[in-house]
Amino acid sequence: MLLLEMGYCKGWRVEIIGADISHRVLQQARKAVYGKSSFRATEEAYIKRFFREQEGSYRIADEVKELVTISHLNLFDQNRLALLGKVDVIFCRNVIIYFDQTAKKKVVEVFYRTLREGGYLLLGHSESLMNISTAFTLRHLRNDMVYQKPRSSGGST
Ligand SMILES: C[S@@+](CC[C@H](N)C(=O)[O-])C[C@H]1O[C@@H](n2cnc3c(N)ncnc32)[C@H](O)[C@@H]1O
Repeated sequence: MLLLEMGYCKGWRVEIIGADISHRVLQQARKAVYGKSSFRATEEAYIKRFFREQEGSYRIADEVKELVTISHLNLFDQNRLALLGKVDVIFCRNVIIYFDQTAKKKVVEVFYRTLREGGYLLLGHSESLMNISTAFTLRHLRNDMVYQKPRSSGGST
C-alpha cells in the first residue's frame, strides 16, 4: 500500500512474498479478507483507498493483492530460502520470539544471507537481535527501529 501510494510501483518490479509454515495460515492469507480488528493501527485513508467492505469484512484491492505471492516456507529450510534470491526487506514479526537461542541465530544468519547489502530486517516491537547477531546495524527511524545489513563499502543509505 505504501509503495503504491508513493508511486514506487511505476517502473519498479515489486515482488512481495508472504510466507508461513502453516497451510491453515496461508489459506487465510490468500483470501485477503480482514476483520475490523485487523485495522487497529491502520489509518482510515488506507482502508478507504485499498479495501472494499463486504458484509462487515474488508477485502483488499486487486492492485495490492497482485503484488503479493503467498508461499509455503519453513524458515529452517535454507535451500528453499536460497531459491528466493536476494531481497531488499524482510519483515518477520513475532516469529523468532518463539524459537530457542540456537534456532534464532540460525534463522537470523539466513536472513542476513538473503538480504541485499543495505537491505533491512524488521522484527516485532518486543523483539531484538540482542545476544543473537552483531552483523546488522541498528537504525533509528521516527517511530521504529530497524536492522540494516551493512554495505561492504560502509555506506549507510
Ligand atoms: C505469532 S504468529 C505471527 C504472525 C504475524 N507475523 C503477526 O505478527 O501477526 C507466528 C507465525 O509464525 C509461523 N511459523 C512458526 N514457525 C515457522 C517456521 N519455522 N517457518 C515459517 N513460519 C513459521 C506460525 O505458523 C505463525 O503463523
